[in-house]
Amino acid sequence: MAIDKTSLELEKTVPDAEDFLPLLGTDYVELYVGNAKQAAHYYQAAWGFQPVAYAGLETGLKDRVSYVLQQDKIRLVLTSPLQSGGDINRHIDAHGDGVKVVALWVDDAAKSHEETVKRGAKSYMEPEKFTDEHGEAVISGIHTYGETVHLFVERKNYKGAFLPGYKEWNPSYKPAPLGLKYIDHMVGNVGWNEMNKWCEFYAKVMGFAQLISFDDSDISTDYTALMSKVMSNGNGRIKFPINEPAEGRKKSQIEEYIDFYNGAGVQHIALATDNIIETVGELKARGVEFLYVPETYYDTVLDRVGEIDEDLEPLKELGILIDRDDEGYLLQLFTKPVLDRPTMFFEIIQRKGAQSFGKGNFKALFEAIEREQEMRGTL
Ligand SMILES: [Fe+2]
Repeated sequence: MAIDKTSLELEKTVPDAEDFLPLLGTDYVELYVGNAKQAAHYYQAAWGFQPVAYAGLETGLKDRVSYVLQQDKIRLVLTSPLQSGGDINRHIDAHGDGVKVVALWVDDAAKSHEETVKRGAKSYMEPEKFTDEHGEAVISGIHTYGETVHLFVERKNYKGAFLPGYKEWNPSYKPAPLGLKYIDHMVGNVGWNEMNKWCEFYAKVMGFAQLISFDDSDISTDYTALMSKVMSNGNGRIKFPINEPAEGRKKSQIEEYIDFYNGAGVQHIALATDNIIETVGELKARGVEFLYVPETYYDTVLDRVGEIDEDLEPLKELGILIDRDDEGYLLQLFTKPVLDRPTMFFEIIQRKGAQSFGKGNFKALFEAIEREQEMRGTL
């Protein structure tokens, strides 16, 4: 495993959170997709994810295939059904391609299941031990918003490529990584008036605390609106902002997501880099499409955020957004949806001290999103 255990001394950075599990980090994110082989190629070629492991017919599976890819600490699993009529097929039929599993890395999967179910979580998977010649892993799981689930992965006694049942996947095709390092945060979209319910879920069931909140006066334009609260675990490694739609003059982008995803689900995954200009430049060169940011954004941005280390010109050329809070500033940019349905997208983020989420950019961002919605005729 490339995940570095030495950096894992648990430090409590969010005082109100209660780390009773505790969560060591995000273990992996699994998407159910229509064609995992081609999706894997996309994440390799365009995003620089490296091939890690594979499971399918060749490893004894009959009903599904999974490709595991990794870039630094970010691990993606892409899974497709091999037969008709199963749960994965039904998931894809309902939601299109999308995130099914947000797996969390724990020391004790049985205890994580017991503690969260005791606090009100609905069980998805009782603790189960999986073994192969590389050791054993214990996995359990609970339901969260929509049809999304959290798996608790205990892998301290496992030395293989990914998890028992997977074989190493080592093709000769390996485009270079792009400097993506870890998942900064993962955002869930939930239905009308459901934000508080799901924030309470993360507080009560997982011991998370609220970092920050916005209301629709912060995040609204003439047309679209949303409300958002950010929940974090105690060591700050897991941050889950939760969005709900708010009334605007026209359809909220959250409502558009809910309509096309048929319910609540993961809206975006923010990936951290230490050099956003290089990372985004290369992503664009490899064909990843980002939201358009109006040039006029850059006319006034430095008045708003003050001095920054970077030259403004390359930021403007790439459409990178800038925001500042009390602790520093951040650079960020959002892709267009990476699936055919206008549902999930990625954010690329570089933090230079700031611990917030780019509130000052929301208006600029939503104006950009609305231009996209307008083109799809869903505004
Ligand atoms: Fe974000």
